[in-house]
Amino acid sequence: MACYAVTGGAGFIGSHITVRLVRDGHQVRVVDDLATGRMDNLEEVRDDIEFLEGDVCDGQLLRRAFDGAEAVFHQAALASVVRSVEDPVSTNRANVEGTLQVLESARRCGVRRVVCASSSSVYGDAAVLPKREDMPPVPKSPYAASKLAGEHYCQVYAGLFGLETISLRYFNVFGPRQDPASRYAAVVPIFITAMLEGSRPTVFGDGEQSRDFTYVENVVEANLLAAGHCRASGMAMNVGCGERYTLNELLALLERIIGTGVEPIYSGERPGDVRDSEADIARAREVLGYSPRVGFEEGLRRTVEWHQARRSAGCAG
Ligand code: NAD
Ligand code: UD1
Repeated sequence: MACYAVTGGAGFIGSHITVRLVRDGHQVRVVDDLATGRMDNLEEVRDDIEFLEGDVCDGQLLRRAFDGAEAVFHQAALASVVRSVEDPVSTNRANVEGTLQVLESARRCGVRRVVCASSSSVYGDAAVLPKREDMPPVPKSPYAASKLAGEHYCQVYAGLFGLETISLRYFNVFGPRQDPASRYAAVVPIFITAMLEGSRPTVFGDGEQSRDFTYVENVVEANLLAAGHCRASGMAMNVGCGERYTLNELLALLERIIGTGVEPIYSGERPGDVRDSEADIARAREVLGYSPRVGFEEGLRRTVEWHQARRSAGCAG
């Protein structure tokens, strides 16, 4: 049994990492200010973890959380492209200052390794697909810029202080517990919710933009592999499935899974949006031994089931 800290552990991805660590028999401390996360996400492990409510910019709180921890899974961030366009300063604070505080506190506490959540958005509209880590990043939104800055700090802390760091560039993660209701919600839970309600989802643009939609369990696996004793430090690497689907294909698949169709409303493109996204996962395969286990369709099926169960239990919305 080891001790781990998860920042943003009450959020969508962080809660999945937390639950997996608890199931594997580890001691887990979660730091979250509940800006977008919810205690409900941690319901099944609430009595097994130590929850520290607060901000990742608070170094004192972080040092309490990281003391004696083997590794830190840094997931806390304001994770929306749209939100960052509306309010770049708060995104910068949570994502850049927050990451710096996490690294500095981890260093002071003697943590061996920090695994940081980065994003495929750092590539921007790179013309070549799939996106590889040796391509120059061209962030198109304040959110993407904040994630790239976090990666740079990870690299600096590895080189300068010998803190082992690794940045995982997640590609459009989806699955149970991803919030469908927020103004900044992601497309998969928005579309599922609309279709289950029988309302018409809005597609920004022509729906031919594509994403490498990645089921959350694959991302949890990549995090655990990255926290282990692999040789990678100071590196960034893609975590996706290596396939892309357009939003129109997503709608058609959901129609098949749910069994009812709705006509979407097509509206203007969203500012800061990337057109196409697909991961080359060769580096993660080679360095981490990562391989996506749950494909897009199976992941969608499980996610729809979760939404249906939630609605039956009367907690939709
Ligand atoms: P989420 O919003 O569900 O989780 C983020 C968590 O961080 C929330 O619980 C929130 O309350 C917490 N948080 C935010 N600001 C904080 C602060 N200042 N101090 C403490 N806690 C704070 O989002 P998610 O989708 O689970 O994203 C997790 C991480 O993965 C983020 O770093 C995000 O940028 C990254 N990421 C997500 C995706 C995706 O598709 N969901 C893709 C690429 C990268
Ligand atoms: C998502 C993540 C971001 C992550 C990035 C890279 C969220 C909220 N954002 O950004 O954290 O870093 O992936 O993997 O999880 N769309 C519609 N209708 C809607 C909502 C969205 O057409 O109602 C479109 C958007 O315009 C976009 C696509 O769907 O073209 C995906 O949008 P979204 O789910 O917000 O994800 P990203 O912006 O790719």
